[in-house]
Amino acid sequence: MEIIDDKNFDEVVSAIKKIIDFNPDNYKKKPLRRRIWSRMRRFGIDNYEDYTKLLLSDEEEARRLKKALTINLTRFFRNKEVFDYLRKEILPSIKESSIWSAGCANGAEPYSLAILCCELNLPCSILGTDIDQDSIKKARGGIYDNFALQEIDPSLKKRYFKRVKEGFRIADEIKSLVEFQKLDLKDADYKKEFDLIICRNVLIYLSREFQKKILFLFYQALKNHGYLILGKVESLTGDARRLFYCIDIKNRIYEKKV
Ligand SMILES: C[S@@+](CC[C@H](N)C(=O)[O-])C[C@H]1O[C@@H](n2cnc3c(N)ncnc32)[C@H](O)[C@@H]1O
Repeated sequence: MEIIDDKNFDEVVSAIKKIIDFNPDNYKKKPLRRRIWSRMRRFGIDNYEDYTKLLLSDEEEARRLKKALTINLTRFFRNKEVFDYLRKEILPSIKESSIWSAGCANGAEPYSLAILCCELNLPCSILGTDIDQDSIKKARGGIYDNFALQEIDPSLKKRYFKRVKEGFRIADEIKSLVEFQKLDLKDADYKKEFDLIICRNVLIYLSREFQKKILFLFYQALKNHGYLILGKVESLTGDARRLFYCIDIKNRIYEKKV
């Protein structure tokens, strides 16, 4: 079943804005439509009008749509080579690092950085933020399944995780290094607070305009010469190219220009 009629798409968008804490205007239209269609298909609905009615009357569907729109897939040490580079080239040069993992999903990314700092004996404070409250709750819980731990070095897994009934619980010494907050990037307002910002696999879903806004926000949030890390298929757009030096293109590591 293919949805061809774009009529009433704005109605769904208004409904989403009203009942879900998510602003579709900031996201790329094509993937947004695809994800909404995928939800509609589950109910055999082929027009936006009927889906809007469903959305407004069914809390569970609103919750599921939000899950579908935010895409929370992540894992510990995702793209391990980025963490290897950080361990060797970046983290040792930062004393008492203040790190922000923006769009951290279930917390695997900020916890991976906390593990690295712990291994290097580097004091650090790490902030993990995400728009999705369920992800933040999961992050604070600190319990993970095998999928999340598929890329972690077995010795680190052994050292920092304990097998429990529900999965693997992260050690308290790592947990205490990371604070989690629910935050929509559009509302973030930090000034020169971080040595390093990692925001991977988030920009890819955002409209170009919103990407530009967020990159400028990162520029302001970084201390002088602070580092920005993007996802493997992401890059600096527009004026942001003038705000950062590229340190390592393969791993998408940039340094704030001053
Ligand atoms: C694919 S995950 C990326 C997780 C992790 N950074 C990684 O690369 O493994 C994308 C995350 O971005 C979050 N996100 C999407 N839009 C956001 C926004 N406007 N503000 C904050 N987080 C957002 C989603 O909720 C989701 O958890």
